[in-house]
Amino acid sequence: MQLVIIAGGLGRRLRPLTLTRPKALIPLVDRPMVVHLLDSLPASCEEVLIAVNYRFDQVRDFFRDRDFHREIRVVDEPVPLGTGGALKNLERHIHGPFAVFNGDIVDTVDFDGLVRAHRKGRGIGTIAVWPVDDPSAFGAVEIAKDRIVRFVEKPGKGEIASHLVNAGRYVFEPRVFDFIEAGHPVSLEREVFPRLIKEGLTPYRFDGWWSDAGTLSNYLNAQRLLLAASRAKIAPDSDVAAGTLRPPVYVSAGCFVEGRLGPDVVLGKSCRVGRATIANATLLEGVSVDDKADIASSILGAGSAIGEGAVVRDSIVADGAQVSPHAKIEAGQVMA
Ligand code: GTP
Repeated sequence: MQLVIIAGGLGRRLRPLTLTRPKALIPLVDRPMVVHLLDSLPASCEEVLIAVNYRFDQVRDFFRDRDFHREIRVVDEPVPLGTGGALKNLERHIHGPFAVFNGDIVDTVDFDGLVRAHRKGRGIGTIAVWPVDDPSAFGAVEIAKDRIVRFVEKPGKGEIASHLVNAGRYVFEPRVFDFIEAGHPVSLEREVFPRLIKEGLTPYRFDGWWSDAGTLSNYLNAQRLLLAASRAKIAPDSDVAAGTLRPPVYVSAGCFVEGRLGPDVVLGKSCRVGRATIANATLLEGVSVDDKADIASSILGAGSAIGEGAVVRDSIVADGAQVSPHAKIEAGQVMA
């Protein structure tokens, strides 16, 4: 079965990190987001097509010399076509029923289970669904008699009774292309799915966990889930002897830690943390944090430096940014 990964959006909600790299290549627990998807695939997924508009060259170059045990083709989309248009742009490469994954979600969906549900359902498509407490930030899905009967994007209070949301994992028959116009941006979720209801859309539920990773809070949630799924580790050549660690934490190679880390902290390679406090946060490669700094619910970009006594909360700090001693940054995007 072929799999399309839709991974070409601008990723505005993860700026400034996405100003220098595509969202698919942002490290999440020390490996690019898209690699988590590839790792989860069974042998029955023989070929992966990655649909990319924004920063196509970077994604193509990333896959050029790496082996993921199956054919991977990164396909250029010269102008952004939206999630539906991105699929239409791949029509000539598709040979039969095919799977589609959004590139900015991590989960435990069972690829083969999704395909089996699709065959059994005999509709034009199958959509994985996931229960959430508050569907207002997602695409809610209403189900009746094993068919999807309605979609409500970002529902207001009381607008839909269902707490199931579109999990961004699908299987389609090739005739889905008849429902997507060529040559201009089309949203799969808003425009195409409602057209497909009368053709038969099967819902698919799965066990485990699921998280979007396309906003700061969702990214940190995805990180928490991955750490809980036992990806925590301390690289043997890192020195954390003088630090205090509250698990789960993930410390990559070449780090030096004196401060308090955790829970739910990931350090990329070669980070240096003085006597600071860090919780629920990611430090990408080569970050330094000075004494008495306090970092929470944030992502610090590669090579950024946080001065003594600075406070960073609910923020994304750009690669290479310098945060002055005693600065206070809350709910912000910090440019270099
Ligand atoms: P924001 O700018 O923060 O909304 O992010 P985004 O542009 O990535 O959009 P969104 O999170 O809604 O996208 C969901 C998935 O579709 C992600 O994996 C995106 O990379 C992908 N995507 C969104 N728009 C496009 C597009 O025009 N072309 C392609 N190829 N992929 C897209």
